[in-house]
Amino acid sequence: MEALIKQIESEIRDVPDFPKEGIIFKDITPLFKNPKLIKEMVAYLKMQYKDAPIDAIAGIESRGFLLGVPLALALNVPFILIRKKGKLPCKTIAHSYQLEYGEATIEVHEDAIEPGQNVLIHDDLIATGGSASAAAELIKKLKGNVYGFNFLIELSFLNGEENLRDYSKNITSFVTY
Ligand code: PRP
Ligand code: MG
Repeated sequence: MEALIKQIESEIRDVPDFPKEGIIFKDITPLFKNPKLIKEMVAYLKMQYKDAPIDAIAGIESRGFLLGVPLALALNVPFILIRKKGKLPCKTIAHSYQLEYGEATIEVHEDAIEPGQNVLIHDDLIATGGSASAAAELIKKLKGNVYGFNFLIELSFLNGEENLRDYSKNITSFVTY
């Protein structure tokens, strides 16, 4: 595990002043150029969740789709798309949440899961936790259970986890800053 984390850390690229001055952006694109590393990450997550009662993985658009799909394949469960407003073609339910400036809305198809199913929410990164808690609200609106949350990266100085603990205490990340 330690070697894997070191490898992930070494391949995450810091991009200063993106998308605006003073922000150091954590760029995950180099990870996805390394198929061996992706396979190792998925294998690790498969082991982590192998005995967990997970019925589906919900990935948050767009970077939550990248590892969410191979993880769902590895666990042999459905993958649910949580998308930004206006992208899903069938009947949806929506949840809006506050951003630093303004508001964001995410949606899921209303037939994405069955009531009572246990869903693991996956995204590449947790910052404020706004996106992940909104995803949890969508799962609850569909009468699903939030089994837990999984991220590649947690920006712990933003305390986003605090916004998730009411949904599930099962919150994991590969790398914490
Ligand atoms: C980023 C990141 C997470 C979210 C984290 O996505 O991929 O989804 O922000 O921030 P939060 O914890 O404060 O909600 P972004 O909205 O930039 O879009 P993208 O994944 O489509 O690039
Ligand atoms: Mg995102």
